[in-house]
Amino acid sequence: MNIRIEELTFEPMISYETIAQRTIEIGNTLAEKYKGNTPVFVGVLNGSFMFMADLVKQVPIPLHVAFMKLSSYHGGLATTRTITEDFNLKVDIQGRDVILVEDIVDTGNTLRYLVDKLKSLNPASITVCALLYKPDAMEHNIPELEYVGFEIENKFVVGYGLDYKELGRNYKDIYQLVK
Ligand code: IMP
Repeated sequence: MNIRIEELTFEPMISYETIAQRTIEIGNTLAEKYKGNTPVFVGVLNGSFMFMADLVKQVPIPLHVAFMKLSSYHGGLATTRTITEDFNLKVDIQGRDVILVEDIVDTGNTLRYLVDKLKSLNPASITVCALLYKPDAMEHNIPELEYVGFEIENKFVVGYGLDYKELGRNYKDIYQLVK
């Protein structure tokens, strides 16, 4: 069923069941790769809160969870170049294996900023796990982007943590904008 947020209509795109299945696959891969290492999963708020919650449940090894808060979109449909840092990482990641958990990679500006910032804190390794990736919108080459839930078309999406004007994050499924 379509949903309406403010003046826009969105149609179902990826069901929660499909997300959950893919999250199990990625979780298994990460658990295998990082067992014995106690990695740090760093989530980027607000968008990644649901994916982070579901992902770490599928990685049954000792690990830490931490969050940072950034905003680059400021609630609209189009990305902006300004990245605002609302709060910073509270965990020391020096010498640690870091898995950066993102909701969506669009132009990659936010990810570029984050990867550079985390690298400057001298982790042992850094990899990125993004639920969604819009390859046609990507403007950077970021080899750390190793784990992607779904590659999607360059369309605006909401649900499962993703918002339009801060609304829609609570929907279980992911919806795309109906033009
Ligand atoms: P980027 O810097 O252009 O890659 O944008 C990354 C951020 O913009 C994401 O973390 C989201 O907060 C937001 N964003 C990008 N595309 C969408 C979308 O389709 N729906 C909702 N938010 C989006």
